[in-house]
Amino acid sequence: METITRTKIVEVLKSKAFGTTVNVKGWVRTRRGNKNVNFIALNDGSTINNVQIVVEMEKFGEDFLKPITTDACISVNGVLVESQGKGQTVEIQATEIEIYGEADPATYPLQKKGHSLEFLREIAHLRPRTNTFGAVFRIRHHMAMAIHRFFHERGFFYFHTPIITASDCEGAGQMFQVTTMNLYDLKKDENGSILYDNDFFGRQASLTVSGQLEGELAAMALGAIYTFGPTFRAENSNTPRHLAEFWMIEPEVAFYEIEDNMQLAEDFIKYCVQWALDNCMEDIQFLNDMFDKELIERLNFVLKQNFIRLAYTDGIRILEEAVANGRKFEFPIFWGADLASEHERYLVEEHFKCPVILTDYPKEIKSFYMKQNEDGKTVRAMDVLFPKIGEIIGGSQREENLEKLSRRADEMGVPQKDIWWYLDTRRFGTAPHSGFGLGFERLLLFVTGMANIRDVIPFPRTPRNAEF
Ligand code: 4AD
Ligand code: MG
Repeated sequence: METITRTKIVEVLKSKAFGTTVNVKGWVRTRRGNKNVNFIALNDGSTINNVQIVVEMEKFGEDFLKPITTDACISVNGVLVESQGKGQTVEIQATEIEIYGEADPATYPLQKKGHSLEFLREIAHLRPRTNTFGAVFRIRHHMAMAIHRFFHERGFFYFHTPIITASDCEGAGQMFQVTTMNLYDLKKDENGSILYDNDFFGRQASLTVSGQLEGELAAMALGAIYTFGPTFRAENSNTPRHLAEFWMIEPEVAFYEIEDNMQLAEDFIKYCVQWALDNCMEDIQFLNDMFDKELIERLNFVLKQNFIRLAYTDGIRILEEAVANGRKFEFPIFWGADLASEHERYLVEEHFKCPVILTDYPKEIKSFYMKQNEDGKTVRAMDVLFPKIGEIIGGSQREENLEKLSRRADEMGVPQKDIWWYLDTRRFGTAPHSGFGLGFERLLLFVTGMANIRDVIPFPRTPRNAEF
């Protein structure tokens, strides 16, 4: 076969160089046709759109084409021509075809008929080859780009916080332990406690649940930083919104009060949504048509809204009124209760019909590091609640007073000896500051309209599932 530099299909489809010979490589979506001519829809992942390859049967022969079935990989040389068929502007009249890899339909699990998302999760190693997951993973890339651009444009520094840590930032006891000890032969002291002296780090260590504590150290020096990395939580919640391994973006800003923090969160999400509409429209349109007819409408809607800002106490009042008027919830609602997703979505989807930033939660249901309000009961927390998702962002102004912070750490059972370095920021040059965490996959749920968080991360980790 003649060597011609490969052109990506996304470029070929835009080309007007009719009459020139091009090379494309990709995976076959479908092959159909008759005794005279076959049409191959070829996709190389660069775009959701396929290029049509026109194959004269006389030239290639039936036998040659037989192995060109769904997801066989081929390389095609051919002449770019203006397409006669509707729905496409160019096609390629094949002159030479090389088969790189067959995909025997007798054993290949993906066929051109639609498969359920549940089935595709069982073949997560192959699902990127479907239109749906191609679209989702291209959008995932673009959202990561948008996030870096947003912060870079505003002078935030990308700061890398450790994955392995000895402190539980959220204090919720949901950490995965990291050890090189022989679990069949654990050394214990006379009280039966495990001796970590001989473990790799000489102490108990875990995978991080959040980069915030180290992020705060950086904000107290660089002024404004963000993290963007994997986080791990051993919460046994098998819901469509929880993963054991998820990616989180955590900005942290010196001299920000909670109002600044809320504005940053709102601007940030809107920037990401706008970026998706500007850069991923073909993929979004596909997902809109396939799964969620209101997706594009919802994305545009959020851009137009000023997010409602509401104190937790007022939110509870609204929910209690709803219950009094006959609205049923699965979980009880009262001042002091943590909101369930159903409550968050009631506020957003039914009551306000707008994203809501809920603030000033009871201190008992929030982490030790949040700034304490004068009332002694609430803390300066802020959760951003979104349609279809519930909580998409959690954050707060931080307690910058050493004494108050230490007392709260004690009350909540966070050992000061584990976070002495964190407390040092309050000992030396402390400052008001704030930050938040955006769950990357929750943002992707919103932007793609997918209903299950397992379908917006390539290889989901959930209870009893770490395949691939
Ligand atoms: O509300 P969270 O627990 O807040 C923190 O971790 C803070 N340290 C953030 C900060 O202030 N720097 O988590 C933040 C966000 C949630 O709003 C949610 O979007 C996402 O992370 N999240 C999860 N996403 C997927 N699966 C899980 N198990 C998640 N837990 C939290
Ligand atoms: Mg939270």
